[in-house]
Amino acid sequence: MSKGFFKKIFRTYRDELDGEKIKLYTDRKFTLLEETDSTNAYLKRNEESFKDGDCVIAKRQTSGRGRLGRSFVSPEGGIYMSLLLKPEKGEINGTDITALCAVSTAMAIESVTGEKTKIKWVNDIYLRGKKVCGILTEALTENDRIKYIIVGIGIDVYKQKKLPEELKDTVGFLFEKQGDVINKLASLTADNFFKLYKTGEYIEEYRKRSMLDGQRVEYTENGTVKSGTVLGVDEKCGLRIKDGDGERVLRSGEVRITKYERI
Ligand code: BTN
Repeated sequence: MSKGFFKKIFRTYRDELDGEKIKLYTDRKFTLLEETDSTNAYLKRNEESFKDGDCVIAKRQTSGRGRLGRSFVSPEGGIYMSLLLKPEKGEINGTDITALCAVSTAMAIESVTGEKTKIKWVNDIYLRGKKVCGILTEALTENDRIKYIIVGIGIDVYKQKKLPEELKDTVGFLFEKQGDVINKLASLTADNFFKLYKTGEYIEEYRKRSMLDGQRVEYTENGTVKSGTVLGVDEKCGLRIKDGDGERVLRSGEVRITKYERI
């Protein structure tokens, strides 16, 4: 019996990323890699060979990267994808790309699972109370013009048997059992993103899914830890927080929920 036969029998995931299947769902150019260090890093290294709207997707990453220099565990069974933007005039219209991407991905996840998601400002998507997706946006600017933006999306599609101990309580999954969704989900996520990017109309969809509204949070400002209550997001997806000094809007950084209230 051939090697290929055994490979097929023993492979962990039947529902795997497949270039031909992706083509059934989208006309967008997808470059599929069996393995890479990080799809963001791969796209950055090879940016000259790709054009605006192209996508790079991998079955697994060996050095997946998260925000704030963290690593992003990326075994097979997930989607690790980077989308490339090369804005023609080297500028974007003030849209928060990460928030827009969170909405596009949340909508795609909802459409394949039939369940509602929440977005934790501004780059994490939650399903059934656990994180199922993280987004890392990176940009290169030259002479005050944006040369390119890379939007990296990591989705935990299938339940992992071997997750590092420290992630077990926080990292979730979309499906426990194998289906036929992974290629559809990847295509839908990318297509949703470029559709919303064209219109720029994502903020109401973000607000419907906002996880932090009404929650007590902690955040760090100029090295000092502060706390307050989240009022919502403004038109540019800045986080409105009410604290002892009044209202402030956070444009970047990360907040931590001090005590989660179901509201
Ligand atoms: C986070 O949760 O802090 C963001 C995680 C972003 C992970 C994605 S997976 C595809 C792309 N390649 C990477 O190395 N990171 C992003």
